Amino acid sequence: MIERIARLAAIVTIVMALGLAASPAAAEDGYALWLRYQPLPQGIRAAAAPHAAAIVAPAAPSPTIGVAVAELQRGLGGLLARPEPVAHTAGVGAILVGTPAELPAIAALHLPLSGLGDEGYLLRSATVDGKAVTIVTGNSDVGVLYGAFALLRQVQTGAPIDRLDLASTPKVRIRMLDHWDNLDRTVERGYAGESIWDWWRLPDWHDPRYTDYARANASIGINGTVLNNVNASPDILTPRFIAKAAALADIFRPYGIKVYLSVNFASPIKLGGLKTADPLDPQVAAWWKAKADEIYKAIPDFGGFLVKANSEGQPGPGDYHRSHSQGANMLAAALAPHHGIVIWRAFVYTATGDGDRAKEAYDEFKPLDGQFADNVVLQVKNGPIDFQPREPFSPLFGAMPKTPLGLEVQITKEYLGFATHLVYLGALFQETLDADTYADGPGSTVAKVIDGELDHHQLSLIAGVANIGSDRDWCGSDFNQANWYAFGRLAWDPTASSRAIAVEWAKMTFSLDPGFVGPTVDMMMLSREAVVNYMTPLGLAHQMGTNHHYGPAPWVDNLPQAEWNPAYYNRADATGIGFDRTKTGSNAVAQYAPPVAKRFADLATVGDKYLLWFHHLPWTYRMASDETLWDSLVHHYTLGVTQVADMQNTWTAMQRYVDPERYAKATTFLAIQHREAQWWRDASIAYFQSKSHLPLPAGEVPPAHSLAYYEALRFPHAPGI
Ligand code: GCU
Repeated sequence: MIERIARLAAIVTIVMALGLAASPAAAEDGYALWLRYQPLPQGIRAAAAPHAAAIVAPAAPSPTIGVAVAELQRGLGGLLARPEPVAHTAGVGAILVGTPAELPAIAALHLPLSGLGDEGYLLRSATVDGKAVTIVTGNSDVGVLYGAFALLRQVQTGAPIDRLDLASTPKVRIRMLDHWDNLDRTVERGYAGESIWDWWRLPDWHDPRYTDYARANASIGINGTVLNNVNASPDILTPRFIAKAAALADIFRPYGIKVYLSVNFASPIKLGGLKTADPLDPQVAAWWKAKADEIYKAIPDFGGFLVKANSEGQPGPGDYHRSHSQGANMLAAALAPHHGIVIWRAFVYTATGDGDRAKEAYDEFKPLDGQFADNVVLQVKNGPIDFQPREPFSPLFGAMPKTPLGLEVQITKEYLGFATHLVYLGALFQETLDADTYADGPGSTVAKVIDGELDHHQLSLIAGVANIGSDRDWCGSDFNQANWYAFGRLAWDPTASSRAIAVEWAKMTFSLDPGFVGPTVDMMMLSREAVVNYMTPLGLAHQMGTNHHYGPAPWVDNLPQAEWNPAYYNRADATGIGFDRTKTGSNAVAQYAPPVAKRFADLATVGDKYLLWFHHLPWTYRMASDETLWDSLVHHYTLGVTQVADMQNTWTAMQRYVDPERYAKATTFLAIQHREAQWWRDASIAYFQSKSHLPLPAGEVPPAHSLAYYEALRFPHAPGI
């Protein structure tokens, strides 16, 4: 028996050694994200190793420098397949890790750090005492930590590290994840299992995942996390939950991540026993002030409050005939003594005005420009409606120069096929960031609005609704991890290229082989266009099933509030399709700066992407391609399905580069996506044909089922509601 165990142990050792050497064959469950640190190909290892001989850090490192050193040891040790030592003096090939104040050898170099701000880093190849070394430095420990991750990224992506001179500073001050996690561990619009916050066992039990979450976020520069759902339970502000949030804040602090909480505006009533939550009532203001003081006792670097007010049934200042700014400023006053901020959401669509939901946030907030306190930032969704596969940018960007505007995007794929559809959102985020608002002439991009450059704001923010859950792979699929990654990288630099980011991610997550990286990145870039084509082509939006938003339901027109109905958005009838947002319709175009308004209003310049977003057109309208609108619509749906088939073919050809576990999962998910893309196409065509009464263009296959069949489909227990 003992002999058998010994033999088994020997086999296990051999298998483990083989596993280390042949990384693509090793089983992988996605837990390691892009921080896999598997051994690099021999040539890259040989080039990098002499420049990573040892790590030299301050003798008594701060917790943040401590985690930077630990990450470098772990990362370089894995990538170079040998232990990475820590030394006390700088020998040839050493990596010096610290601020100039912490390491005199770095101070002696008089490096140009002033432009790096308090979070930037510098990687520099230098000579110290005649020895070639690498410097990882910044003005703060967290800058050094970001530098450590940047150095690892260089090595992981096969970039040389022998002649480094790489300085980088985040352009946006607050780069945060918004978790829509409830206190019972369900996640609103979450498709990756239950919440990673094990609220029940906090504050005592510290799941190791919390540290890995912090590592992953720090590796891409995310420095804030809102722990709970914007549809906030008042309970988050009870002492019990403040203690739980404080435990998480303690874990995240060394990684430069601050904790924020979503708050319920009616908390003074629900928790404090007050009769009102009127922001102008002194007792209400005093309640919030005392609550803020209590939070800061437990979490001295608490970031602030995120507020969804007077939106989708949430309480807010409007309940007392007060404005959003009056509500926000009252909370801001409670947080200001502690340097906390209020993040006030602009996602509102009360049934007012002329009934175009796309106009409502602008109508409500634009008049309040200049009325918000200094420590308030207004968080605006990328598009005027709600995280659709494609929307034009929100007209609020550029329209409120006196107010810091933050950008909110959704990383979780509520309207994009949930976790199973492969959709690389870097392309979507970049499309918004690159959009030109013309607010201050050409070049006034959304990126420049939200990073504060255009209107000279110090406070700047970008928030992503997290796609993270307790699934082993964190995000519900390996490719969804790319969306978390791309979000962080674009938050750091909103002018970065989403393709370049996808290249980095693919190399770090799967393989450096150009035979893998090129086709896989092409597939990722195509994926966003594919989903637009098979779900909502030509500027259509909000065609998803009621509540769960899974699958097509363009026929739904019986929901109590007009703007919840897909039919309200497509406006298809016997004569045509699309939402007239020009002068002859809702005139939403007028909310944009004149050059943009003109472009969107004019059929000659609006382009196919936003055609039906801004125009209601006859089915026989001639497109630029010379097809009729009807034919073009059908072709776009079919193209979307074909593009998913192309993605499947690409992935099949990638098998030899990918471990079997991750290969199989993506293969299965792509098959689901193909099936569902076909369903989207067929159901949408069946419905729109019932309106247009036109024959399918030549060569197009009729829907597999009748319209009644698609209309009858039901999805009880769909996730994320
Ligand atoms: C969407 C989503 C809701 C969410 C809301 C918000 O409407 O479906 O679940 O609460 O956005 O952003 O507040």
